[in-house]
Amino acid sequence: MKSNISPQESSVPFKNIAERLCKKGIDVPDCSIILGSGLDHFTNAIQNPLIIPYGDIPSFPETAVDGHPGALYFGSIDNRKVLAWAGRFHYYEGYPFSQTLLPIQVAHTLGCRSMIVTNAAGGINDRFHVGDLMLIDELITLMVSLSPYNKPALQRYINDDIINGVIRLAANSGIPLNRGCYIYTKGPNYETKAEVRAFRLLGADAVGMSTAAELYEAHRLGMSTLGISLITNKATGVSKTILDHSEIKKAARMRKNDFVKLLSTIITDKNSPLSGNHTRYHPL
Ligand code: HPA
Repeated sequence: MKSNISPQESSVPFKNIAERLCKKGIDVPDCSIILGSGLDHFTNAIQNPLIIPYGDIPSFPETAVDGHPGALYFGSIDNRKVLAWAGRFHYYEGYPFSQTLLPIQVAHTLGCRSMIVTNAAGGINDRFHVGDLMLIDELITLMVSLSPYNKPALQRYINDDIINGVIRLAANSGIPLNRGCYIYTKGPNYETKAEVRAFRLLGADAVGMSTAAELYEAHRLGMSTLGISLITNKATGVSKTILDHSEIKKAARMRKNDFVKLLSTIITDKNSPLSGNHTRYHPL
């Protein structure tokens, strides 16, 4: 299969990485998932996983952020093949987008056509509580360039049919799920109170330091794409307390069952908008 990414566009050998993973036993995934901070409990739902530490993948960067273990899991949930990235690379860690986007590009090169990107986020919307799940139905990127390519980026990654389908699916499965607008900030510092006030005026419901570029890239590659935030804390100023990374892990523990149930349902339910969008041939 011809890749949508030309060698000039990426200095990172994602095709070689995909080939190596194939040799290690990774087949065409039906769905790939990037797990945000503290959300790696999901890997327990994967049956008979093949686990590959990032350190064993040639040319792969290391993850250094607390709550990001750094391993790739490949296995099944029901009869669907799942490729889960427990650990992501952040732009704020100093990685260029050509590296932060590697999981998307490798999954796509393996023939995967559905991508779920998850994260921990701070709640700006007053209706949100710590532990709530939010489907990302809009993005604000403050016009920061989020692409490694010297081309205009897409203006919109959202597919309304996918969003509405997942909202229906969650309701039918009894999983509480909000929807809202995610605003990307580069980080690694948390926002100031004044910034959070401004973000609210702009229409943001939650704020975080990842995900936006990954969603753009997956969408650009033609994958069915979905973003899900776990509200791990109220954003600066919305909360009266000082933010602390340990809150993220606590909130993730609190909602781990619902998070796993939501993801598993999206991956396996026959009425899911993400089911059916996968190839059964090996493109490499
Ligand atoms: N701000 C930015 N990123 C985050 C936050 C936050 O409040 N919580 C978790 N990730």
